[in-house]
Amino acid sequence: MPPAAIGGTLPTVLAPMQDVTTLPFMKVIARCGSPDIFFTEYFRVYPHSSLEKHILASITANGTDRPVIAQVLGNSLPDIRRITALLQQHPVAGIDLNVGCPAPKIYKNKAGGGLLADLPLLDRILETLRESITETRFSVKVRLGFDSFEPFEPVLELIRKHRVDFVTIHARTVREMYRGEPHYEFIAKACSCLDIPVIANGNLSSPAKAIRIARETGAAGVMIGRDAIRNPWIFRQIREATQGMEPFQPTLADVRTYIDWIFTANPGRPDATERARVSHLKKFVNFIGQGVDPQGRFVKTMRRAENSTDFFRVCDHFLIEGGRDAEPFPMEPYAGVVARPNCE
Ligand SMILES: Cc1cc2nc3c(=O)[nH]c(=O)nc-3n(C[C@H](O)[C@H](O)[C@H](O)COP(=O)(O)O)c2cc1C
Repeated sequence: MPPAAIGGTLPTVLAPMQDVTTLPFMKVIARCGSPDIFFTEYFRVYPHSSLEKHILASITANGTDRPVIAQVLGNSLPDIRRITALLQQHPVAGIDLNVGCPAPKIYKNKAGGGLLADLPLLDRILETLRESITETRFSVKVRLGFDSFEPFEPVLELIRKHRVDFVTIHARTVREMYRGEPHYEFIAKACSCLDIPVIANGNLSSPAKAIRIARETGAAGVMIGRDAIRNPWIFRQIREATQGMEPFQPTLADVRTYIDWIFTANPGRPDATERARVSHLKKFVNFIGQGVDPQGRFVKTMRRAENSTDFFRVCDHFLIEGGRDAEPFPMEPYAGVVARPNCE
């Protein structure tokens, strides 16, 4: 991966998001302008685990022409060997270890973010991954620590020791979950002491902010999660802005079309009832609503819809009627409208 060339291009990555970045959603994102790299949701690694079919499909049937990195989460060394061998039989652009998941049921089992509280275990896992990943890249996605920043430098040491090919840093501790402004200075520190590409992650909420943080930290690329659900054009806008072009300005009518695309793509269970589909769609629209009205009335109203007819009536009211269709969709989310993610 080339280093960040501001004034050239800045590599972009869609963040892995469990139950969100399924293949149907990746395809919707691709219609708006693909990132340079996709990550899968995480494959759980435990005794007798297999490669979940729907996650595997995001690699084998991807169709977006972009590289896909497979993420794994777990701590069982023999199973890490077994699962990485299986993954390398497929066209993966890399295998990534999740060292950030803040869900208690995960970190209490010393997986995901829990590894930041047990560095000897993380050391053994990275050693096993380095030995097992022979056919593709080996990357790690980390937070800054578990409940303090203390593990950060030792983790950078482990990354160097095990010759990780690139690292993504979500610049918060596990305890900080998704709250507050990320501590981007740690990304700058990693960039100055590692000689591998560092991808910046955490609240890169607009093209301008993503480009500014990459420039200030020296990051080789930017990974975007929740703000790509809200604004799926963000990768295209970053590309255009770094090439000196005026970034694409979507309207609320474009947002209405995007919501249609998600509903039609059906990114949840293929056999879901209409009610379940609407309920799953709300998970996405929670984020999209952060750019619709500063008071959050759209989000509050759409949450009450129980079927698709009611739901789309609310969408039409807030996004199309009364001339709203021509209004620009803002680059930054409105500060007062909060969407609550509950997993990593
Ligand atoms: C709904 C949801 C699911 C997530 N699932 C994963 C995951 O499977 N693996 C992972 O490494 N991070 C996961 N994350 C964390 C994101 O990849 C990202 O690190 C985090 O949201 C910060 O980036 P953002 O501010 O751009 O959203 C998830 C985040 C959300 C909101």
